[in-house]
Amino acid sequence: MTQAPSVASFDQADEMRAAMTDRLVADGWIGGPEMEAAFRTVPRHLFVPDGTPLETIYDADQSVVTKVGAGGASMSSVSAPWLQARMIAQAGIAPGMRVLEVGSGGYNAALLAEIVGKNGQAVTVDIDPEVTARATAGLDAAGYGDRVVVVTADAEHGVPEHADYDAVVVTVGAWDLAPAWLEQLAGGGVIVVPLRMNTFTRSLALRRSGEHWASTSAQLCGFVPMQGVGERANRGLRLRHPAGGLVTLLFDETEVDDPRLLTGALDHGPAQAWSGCTIPVQVDFADLHLWLAGFLPGFCRVEAGPGTPMAAEGVCRTWFPFGSVIGDSFCVMELRDSGLPGAQREFGARGYGPHAAEAAEALVAQIRAWDAHGRTIPGDAFAYWPAGTAIPSAGDAPVCRFRKTHGTATITWPAAG
Ligand SMILES: C[S@@+](CC[C@H](N)C(=O)[O-])C[C@H]1O[C@@H](n2cnc3c(N)ncnc32)[C@H](O)[C@@H]1O
Repeated sequence: MTQAPSVASFDQADEMRAAMTDRLVADGWIGGPEMEAAFRTVPRHLFVPDGTPLETIYDADQSVVTKVGAGGASMSSVSAPWLQARMIAQAGIAPGMRVLEVGSGGYNAALLAEIVGKNGQAVTVDIDPEVTARATAGLDAAGYGDRVVVVTADAEHGVPEHADYDAVVVTVGAWDLAPAWLEQLAGGGVIVVPLRMNTFTRSLALRRSGEHWASTSAQLCGFVPMQGVGERANRGLRLRHPAGGLVTLLFDETEVDDPRLLTGALDHGPAQAWSGCTIPVQVDFADLHLWLAGFLPGFCRVEAGPGTPMAAEGVCRTWFPFGSVIGDSFCVMELRDSGLPGAQREFGARGYGPHAAEAAEALVAQIRAWDAHGRTIPGDAFAYWPAGTAIPSAGDAPVCRFRKTHGTATITWPAAG
């Protein structure tokens, strides 16, 4: 199951692990000396499938897929070192802490065990027995077999037999916070969780603040999706393009009143609208996506299939194929070269349907609102309010709400400048 590397490759692995850790330190992902020592110590190559090149294993930016599902989607992986480091730092893992890791791979659990030391406890839980068998084998091979408790179960219920925990580190994409995770935290404990909010995920570090949970940091990231009780699939709506091909609208939290109204939407348009808001090529605008996901009614992901004119023109092919549905029409965001100095691109939208222009204008209005509210979300702007908790007004600051099964996630944006 795990490789038995030659003596030469052991030396090589040691060198590459040192280089990877140097890189994590240089890039600011490492949160302290114990964490750095853990990354220098734990042999990552003992937790990945046979034949994985050492260059891949010890690349600070690469995850290693360990299981692929029936449709070809990743079901399990050993996450990228930078992200493991970032989440461990978000949780403030320190010697003596009791930690629950949700989603196993073995390697991250070994890092946790190294950091918490003999006076702490690392527990890891995975729903998939193949994953826990692989994790156990890796932990045994690396000498951590008696330092990590491996449990096979749906983590929706936590792992009460070893609670309570100073930290819960969720390493699988969650759509909601399972109440058990919060209940099994000790007073003052922290949960780090990649929470999906209407399509977009941030790894949030949340600590209790009265009745709710307030973020202390947030990190853009992606994870394999939750299985079991907490699984949440997107819903898709396919529209046939009159020139051929299919356009698919994918909805996460958005409810569309009557999807049948969209049947002939692609017979009309496109109508384009431009916002006047620009951004240099190298600057990311991931927080615009969260603004749209929170405030744009009918928000969806738009996929233009092969054969559609939109695919031929490159609309939807990049990482901003998002738009919204308004009644019988929909729109999708786009960018164009603004012609301004500094390789600035301008945000805009194109609409389809009997009300194509209105749909495009609605999206452009939200782009302008995002611009007016400072464009970026501070790390402490996220919160989670368990069901039944009253969410107070934030005055002039706009608050977007993502309604979940067990509570509501919110983002409080800066007031307009
Ligand atoms: C990205 S992997 C975990 C990576 C790991 N922490 C590491 O060492 O890098 C995510 C894991 O979550 C597991 N998972 C998905 N749904 C789960 C659930 N409901 N309960 C427990 N584990 C789950 C998957 O089987 C998968 O192995």
